[in-house]
Amino acid sequence: MKTLEREETGNAGETAPPPGRAADPCLMVIFGAGGDLTKRKLIPALCNLAAAKLLTDRFAIIGFAYNDLTTETFRKQLSEDIRQFATCPVSPEMWDWFLKRIYYVRGDFQDPKAYQQLKEQIAQAEKAHDTPGNHFYYLAVAPKFFGGVVRQLGAAGLASEENGRWRRVIVEKPFGRDLESARALNAELKQVLEERQIYRIDHYLGKETVQNIIMFRFGNGIFEPIWNRRYIDHVQITAAETVGVELRGGYYETAGALRDMVPNHLFQLVSLTAMEPPISFHADSVRDDQAKALHAIQPPTPEEVLTMTVRGQYGEGRMGEERVPAYRAEPNVAPDSSTETFVALKLRIDNWRWADVPFYLRTGKRLAKRATEIAVQFKRAPFQLFRNTSVESLQTNRLVVRIQPDEGISLRFGAKVPGPIMRMGAVEMDFNYVDYFGSTPSTGYERLIYDCMIGDATLFQRADMVEAGWSVLTPVLDVWKALPPRAFPNYAAGSWGPKEADDLLARDGREWRKIE
Ligand code: BG6
Repeated sequence: MKTLEREETGNAGETAPPPGRAADPCLMVIFGAGGDLTKRKLIPALCNLAAAKLLTDRFAIIGFAYNDLTTETFRKQLSEDIRQFATCPVSPEMWDWFLKRIYYVRGDFQDPKAYQQLKEQIAQAEKAHDTPGNHFYYLAVAPKFFGGVVRQLGAAGLASEENGRWRRVIVEKPFGRDLESARALNAELKQVLEERQIYRIDHYLGKETVQNIIMFRFGNGIFEPIWNRRYIDHVQITAAETVGVELRGGYYETAGALRDMVPNHLFQLVSLTAMEPPISFHADSVRDDQAKALHAIQPPTPEEVLTMTVRGQYGEGRMGEERVPAYRAEPNVAPDSSTETFVALKLRIDNWRWADVPFYLRTGKRLAKRATEIAVQFKRAPFQLFRNTSVESLQTNRLVVRIQPDEGISLRFGAKVPGPIMRMGAVEMDFNYVDYFGSTPSTGYERLIYDCMIGDATLFQRADMVEAGWSVLTPVLDVWKALPPRAFPNYAAGSWGPKEADDLLARDGREWRKIE
């Protein structure tokens, strides 16, 4: 599509000034700072925020972990890592600015004494950097520690908000393993924290194109009137990955594709696509409408689990030229593992907007192509005018929101094929993010970290959203547990998943969009 003259109504685009004010003066404490997330995402994201002038001088970072490091060696290690993982140019001056603000405390998350050391380090850093007592704690730790860390923060007096200073906790995924454990974790966190202090992070919400769903739907007048069961036939949401389980077999064996991707990332896409227009962009009004959409998804009965869900596991296969091993041959995976690496689901959203409009979801590892997208398939027009045209060529309108890679939006519609005979061809109008706005260096965590620092929880999951998601998926997990898969592996690496996933749509007279 030829791009129109760029017209900016806000701060979009790489040349626009950064949106918003600088973050509040504060301390960031990273639990599990010795892990991958800190070096790959968090520190590079902070550099991007500093480059965009969104951090003030009254800021410091304390890494807290069991790894045998000191402030000095932690600084040294990060100085090496940043060369590899920075997504913006980091000048020596900028890095110097960071180094002065980075500290490390070695300790065991379960040891109360370690929290006293942390408290002392916090007091010193607060004095040195004149931060006014605002802290946020990033829990980049294994989920089994979430509850314990928060309890210890509470016991050490580090979680309470007094005299106008704020205390917030960012909790990484996975949040619970099923409805019961998610409820228990919410209850545990809420013994120490208020809901407004809890920031349940889902990195999908840091993606520009995911945030753009809200802008696209509610910032344009032409889509909302047709965004309902009267015009939409069904919706397909795909999150396909080409990578296998990599070195995360230990974790993945206990999670599987459903827990790993669906209650968090895919349900975010479902709720943003299905929600009603919020009354404002206030965090709770957006999340109220997302939660309502999630509550409207009907939990499947055990019989429906058998007909509306599909699970798969990759066997060996080819990714391009390369032969790749089966899931069961990956490191730290049991040779007879019944963990699923693929899942497809049909969801029913029972409300006035979506009744009888199925939402089909699929996600998997080692699929033919990396692509995350939402395809909205519109109903066929009354085609009696073209009754002499062959039915196959009468394509329906389809809107595809491409989340990654090749971020953009395309709309398919019919057009007359030139010539003396009346024939219809399907054409696409295509908008590519990069053509229009250029590419902005980002790790995907900038917006989320910044929002936490300014107290905007819009892009974080609220307790009721997490529980609503698990209410839908727990019946699936229960049936799957009772009936272990019999035919794993059931798809070859490099394919589009098991045949049953195609059958799921074929039974409804539909098919998955071919992603090329
Ligand atoms: C993570 C999952 O949350 O999301 C991974 O644990 C998955 O298994 C990843 O690969 C996908 O995220 P992205 O941003 O690479 O699409």
